[in-house]
Amino acid sequence: MTTETARRLTLGALIQGSGGHIAGWRHPDARPDGQLDFAFHADLARTLERGRFDALFVADVVAVWGHQLDSLSRTGRAEHFEPLTLLAALALVTDHIGLAATATTTYNHPFHIARKFASLDHISQGRAGWNVVTSVVPLEAANFGHDNHLEHELRYRRADEFVQVVKALWDSFDDDAVVRDKATGRYYEPTGLQPPHHEGEHFTVRGPLNISRPPQGHPVVFQAGSSETGREFAARHGEVLFTTQHELGAAQEFYADIKARAAGYGRDPAHVLVWPGLTPIVAATEADARHRLAELQDLIHDDVARRLVQDNIGDLDLSDYPLDGPLPDIPDSNRSKSRRDLLVKLAHDEKLTIRQLAGRYAAGTSVAGTPEQIADRIETWFHERAADGFNISFPYLPGPAEDFVDHVVPLLQRRGLLRTEYEGSTLRENLGLPRPAAAERHLQETGR
Ligand SMILES: Cc1cc2nc3c(=O)[nH]c(=O)nc-3n(C[C@H](O)[C@H](O)[C@H](O)COP(=O)(O)O)c2cc1C
Repeated sequence: MTTETARRLTLGALIQGSGGHIAGWRHPDARPDGQLDFAFHADLARTLERGRFDALFVADVVAVWGHQLDSLSRTGRAEHFEPLTLLAALALVTDHIGLAATATTTYNHPFHIARKFASLDHISQGRAGWNVVTSVVPLEAANFGHDNHLEHELRYRRADEFVQVVKALWDSFDDDAVVRDKATGRYYEPTGLQPPHHEGEHFTVRGPLNISRPPQGHPVVFQAGSSETGREFAARHGEVLFTTQHELGAAQEFYADIKARAAGYGRDPAHVLVWPGLTPIVAATEADARHRLAELQDLIHDDVARRLVQDNIGDLDLSDYPLDGPLPDIPDSNRSKSRRDLLVKLAHDEKLTIRQLAGRYAAGTSVAGTPEQIADRIETWFHERAADGFNISFPYLPGPAEDFVDHVVPLLQRRGLLRTEYEGSTLRENLGLPRPAAAERHLQETGR
């Protein structure tokens, strides 16, 4: 384990043009038109870079962002940029910030994904990150010719093989294999070529990849598994882990658990960074900040409130249950198990109505307070080993991102928690993660 002095806070920003809060796009200062406006995203990325964020992160589903279409028209989730296209463009208007995006292993092929993230890593000179997900939105299945979403365990089995193939493809060429030597006439040294020749349960991929090894060796692997299977997957493959705990104790439990699991796989726990979500709602006084949050909550339409619970809790249709009544018994789900369990427990423990549960879910990881209170919260969680960093989300954009950078970041810098200048040139270097050596791949994956 690294020593406390060597530990340094790392920060990511989750970017959703319409804002992280489900009703954020309706806020008077929100810019929902920014959703498909590149200049808006470029300004935002530069703001985050001014705040010395390690990375910005674009989440994704390969569908409109909802399970059904009934309430979608009341959210800002019907349109969003394809993330890698957006990140390639952002690479050209930024210099330091890491560029991470989701790509699902359920509705993609490893060759495409290896190639795209390798390209982004070359274009950005070592700033790419891949958030590996298995897809939580069942509607995605219908866009790829399937009636049903793959079963949870099976999705993770496929993901496991998927990641191994992608890494092997990234290692197709040794670091120094591509020499482009005009004098000898060798473009690359044949001895430095290592096609994966993979034959597995889900994929057969000969390789090699048609692009040389990414500057970072492997783009940084982000992950957010949280169920038992998801945690095992995250501990094996993840380097930055998104989590959703709201309470310090639960976050510490997750932190300790995932570090122990990673160590169990022979990994250095310091190279697995845990990033809980945090949605700061900053104002000059705590009362003002709370008022801002309440304003946002009041903008949630009834249809959206019902769907918010239904989409995240499982497969039970809630249309016949009154919003101001209790949550009925919820059967097991093939969606996100951890999220279902969290919501059922919350509703049960605090005797919440469906509307109240929707409000709590929408508030998510929101913390309303003064800049000092937000900085205190970040510092406490970091020192108490509940977090190595945070995945900061903004209820709407761009105002709250500017507030965070202008008012919270300087406090974190003054407390010696956050850098004042970028020290590395790649995302890996800034995060303090080692660059994987190509030879290690063969050892890790074959055990030889
Ligand atoms: C911050 C964060 C971002 C996520 N981004 C995505 C995403 O872009 N696409 C997606 O399908 N799932 C996303 N997820 C869901 C996770 O991939 C995962 O399915 C979820 O955390 C539940 O874990 P489990 O699969 O182990 O039950 C995200 C989760 C978190 C916490």
